[in-house]
Amino acid sequence: MDLGLNGKVAFVAASSQGLGKAVALLLAQEGASVVICGRNKKTLEEAAKQIRAAGATVLSLVGDLSSVTDRDYLIAETLKEYGKVDVLVTNTGGPPAGKFESFGQADWDKATQQLLGSAVGLVNGFLPGMKKQNWGRIIAITSQAVKQPVNNLILSNAVRASVAGLMKSLSNELGQYNITVNNVMPGYTQTTRLNKLIEGNPAVANVTSEIPLGRFGQPEEFAAAVAFLASERASYITGVSLAVDGGWIKSIL
Ligand SMILES: NC(=O)c1ccc[n+]([C@@H]2O[C@H](COP(=O)([O-])OP(=O)(O)OC[C@H]3O[C@@H](n4cnc5c(N)ncnc54)[C@H](OP(=O)(O)O)[C@@H]3O)[C@@H](O)[C@H]2O)c1
Repeated sequence: MDLGLNGKVAFVAASSQGLGKAVALLLAQEGASVVICGRNKKTLEEAAKQIRAAGATVLSLVGDLSSVTDRDYLIAETLKEYGKVDVLVTNTGGPPAGKFESFGQADWDKATQQLLGSAVGLVNGFLPGMKKQNWGRIIAITSQAVKQPVNNLILSNAVRASVAGLMKSLSNELGQYNITVNNVMPGYTQTTRLNKLIEGNPAVANVTSEIPLGRFGQPEEFAAAVAFLASERASYITGVSLAVDGGWIKSIL
């Protein structure tokens, strides 16, 4: 199947490692020019090198998505280079693990700026261009926590639901401009983030017993779902929350 991504420009947030990097690599392999970003320059450049090796055009930008100034810089540099973004994938690092009483107001503000603020800022930056060209794909990377809270991850459980609410609302508002907006919810996927969660709590390694497919996911398996939603082929899919979780979520819908 031709995904129709050739010649498209994709901005993939938080993409020097893990899920974001796997998404950027696959979109690039499908013919898109990709913009990747992260805070650590060295890791980012390694990712850019790997994606360029796939024959793709890559713009790599150092920036912290939690900072309004950095977000504005990432948006401005992207538009300066490409003039437009066809596919926006919102993403950031995950907030710290912990239960309600381990966090104060500053932690809640930080998690909100990191998860919700970054998504709002990036949509604000790239929406005018998508509307103008009457074509766009906005895809949020959130978490299985949107449908089923994960133990000991209260910041993620609470704030990611707001990102899902934002995306569903945007899908209602932006359909008239031929812009689709979807939410993809990773389950336990083998990345640095998961390794850190296991370091902090070795019991997380045993969670495979709760996953019908009996194993953790691979970033490439997650990326395949995002690439499809980003594609021309997903033109009549909007407003969905798609889990890529090996079946971990226990609800019917
Ligand atoms: N992997 C899983 O099992 C899983 C499951 C559910 C949800 N998630 C969520 O999915 C998202 C991606 O997870 P992942 O597993 O890919 O994480 P990861 O392996 O830790 O990678 C995170 C990436 O985001 C970048 N990043 C982090 N904070 C950033 C910031 N403020 N500004 C710009 N870039 C930033 C990191 O680079 P720098 O550190 O250099 O900035 C890195 O490239 C996270 O929010 C995570 O919580 C993951």
